[in-house]
Amino acid sequence: MRVLVTGGAGYIGSVASRMLAGEGHEVLVLDNLAKGHRRAVADLDLEVADLEDPSALSGVCSRFGPEACMHFAADSLVGESMADPLKYFRSNVAGSINLAAALVESGCRDMVFSSTAAVYGDAETVPITETHPKRPVNFYGLTKYMFEQALCALDRAGQLRCVCLRYFNAAGADTAADLGEDHHPETHLIPRVIAAALGSEPRAEVFGTDYPTTDGTCVRDYVHVLDLARAHVLACEHLQETGGSGIFNLGNGSGFSVRQVIETVRRVSGRNFEVVEGPRREGDPPALVASSDKIRDELGWRPEHPELESIVSSAWEWHSRHPNGYDS
Ligand code: UFG
Repeated sequence: MRVLVTGGAGYIGSVASRMLAGEGHEVLVLDNLAKGHRRAVADLDLEVADLEDPSALSGVCSRFGPEACMHFAADSLVGESMADPLKYFRSNVAGSINLAAALVESGCRDMVFSSTAAVYGDAETVPITETHPKRPVNFYGLTKYMFEQALCALDRAGQLRCVCLRYFNAAGADTAADLGEDHHPETHLIPRVIAAALGSEPRAEVFGTDYPTTDGTCVRDYVHVLDLARAHVLACEHLQETGGSGIFNLGNGSGFSVRQVIETVRRVSGRNFEVVEGPRREGDPPALVASSDKIRDELGWRPEHPELESIVSSAWEWHSRHPNGYDS
């Protein structure tokens, strides 16, 4: 398969690109390198271009002639989306529409889209199924949901088939390919706690201890980045075999609290570090846990690394090797 991977220099996109290439597919990474890392692309073909440049996208699509596209490129900071919504509408909605137009124009019919659990907003029932009401509580989730809707319209018009994957909490590293999580700023729990264990941050912080959960801290469903990447490859194959469009949650179906994650980092790293308990972070729902029955039943996805311990171990290994991320 000839696959265009937008955001292929980023955390999840780089792991999926490497997996595709390792399985003999022809991969072209498209990334503006604003947040992605050239080193994460290694020797794969890279086109430095922006989703907000329609003519660059048309040129890339007509030259490369993708059979499928994995669309990871996005802005994805919840807090930033609330402070600067225009940025999110431009990149996640307008930029994605530019991409869809270039794909359709070039004759590409299949897209796998990185969506998010943030489309659901506050969970009314846990585990969350795909039919749960979609009431995003931040503009990041809203912009992802808007593009899902655009894709449904393109599917109905027979122009583009699409699998939307609603990720829960992506975590871990592809240690064999030496690919890991390197965001600036880093907002995610696991890399932040690991930074405290490595001593590159003075302490770990717990955002809120008064949630209605078993230990008072937020509960999340952490999914290994290799299992996420595998789901993208399965989704692509499903589309190429004309399996039709679909929307799927991507989580393990088990939730872990912030305190449990911190304990797991302590155990895996063998290091002790200071932990401070602070106020809630605005916009954090108490518990987000996926029902992943649909993707298991329809795409045959099975997580190979569902245990929190193995997710954290892989992240610990990568961050120990790269204490300053890809610049190490
Ligand atoms: N947390 C801490 N301390 C930290 C960092 C995070 O206690 O230093 C807590 C958060 O408050 C949250 C949990 O750890 O309760 C997980 O936080 P993350 O930032 O790792 O992940 P989120 O669940 O906030 O974010 C995920 C995705 C986002 C997506 C969001 C939608 O990573 O891309 O879900 O809800 F937008």
